[in-house]
Amino acid sequence: MDGNGSKMSGHNTREQLFANRLKVHRRNFCSNGTTSYFPLYLRALMVGEKLSFSLYVKVSGEDSQEVKFLPFLESEEILEPSWVEMLQRLGVDRFYFHRGDLDLVIAYLNNHLLLLDSRGEVHPKEKLLVLVEHLNFSLRRSFNSPHLGRHIHLAQIQVERLIQELEKDPTSLKLVWELLYQHYTLYNHSLNVCLLGIGLMLFLHKSRRESLIMGLACLFHDLGLTRIPEEILYRTEPLTPEEKEIIMTHPQLGFQILKETSAMPPEVMQLVLEHHENADGSGYPQGLALNKQHPWTRIIRLVDAYDGLSGHRPYRQALKPFAALKALQDQVGPEGRIFDHRTLVNFIRFLAVP
Ligand SMILES: [Fe+2]
Ligand SMILES: [Fe+2]
Repeated sequence: MDGNGSKMSGHNTREQLFANRLKVHRRNFCSNGTTSYFPLYLRALMVGEKLSFSLYVKVSGEDSQEVKFLPFLESEEILEPSWVEMLQRLGVDRFYFHRGDLDLVIAYLNNHLLLLDSRGEVHPKEKLLVLVEHLNFSLRRSFNSPHLGRHIHLAQIQVERLIQELEKDPTSLKLVWELLYQHYTLYNHSLNVCLLGIGLMLFLHKSRRESLIMGLACLFHDLGLTRIPEEILYRTEPLTPEEKEIIMTHPQLGFQILKETSAMPPEVMQLVLEHHENADGSGYPQGLALNKQHPWTRIIRLVDAYDGLSGHRPYRQALKPFAALKALQDQVGPEGRIFDHRTLVNFIRFLAVP
């Protein structure tokens, strides 16, 4: 249940928050996907600049089941640096905005990128954080748009930009691990898989074009999940066999949606379709033998599963990176290993980038 505490002004919220009188939700707080407010990280905001939309904080009401979004700062107000420092000290790493402001937030993050470009000397991580958050919200918009085709071209430009930033110097690659979202939403997961997929391709010295194909496939791999009812998708209890079957239709659904847009390169569509195929041929939807799969299907299958294990999900805690890899290494299907040895070794080498 979420309510909007609109009776409270931004000034009031700030006063109460800084006096530690509000039970504010801190980092890694898991929620289901049905809220009207989306999280926006403090690190993606332009401190000292005017806002073009309102920011809220998420707090618990008297009854701790109740969740409220209180206005912290309204549109046209300036985000003061001291407030951001204070929030960081309180362990709050994100604000929220209303879903109706999604276009404004995307435009704001775009302006932030332009500002960083004009500044020249910016730490690569600073720019990457904004790029990733911008791509995250653009993806949310494209997944929910009836005109997906139009957004695919934009996603391509954004992924190219991400690749350019990551290949600027060899030390940038290790930033991938710091950029991963800790909290599961379909969009955070898509971004994590995209970062890991691109990162691994660049680590393996694949070309920009090959990395772009992988990046787009990773970004859109779970597009089909948007057609699965949310009560199944965000269920915290185990699924019934029938519900599992419904979820297992998502690679085919995603492939079909992309085919209808006719805007995606065929290799990307093939990878989307095959992202749950296993090395021993026991995967779905086609149960393809290894030699019938796209050569990079093993990569997307691995980075997807890795993020599934290492990220926080509504139904379980995250595993540490090497524990997640160990769990993947031990997974055996009816005919043999689910993940192939060579891809795992490459991924471990990438994880250990100094
Ligand atoms: Fe999937
Ligand atoms: Fe996935």
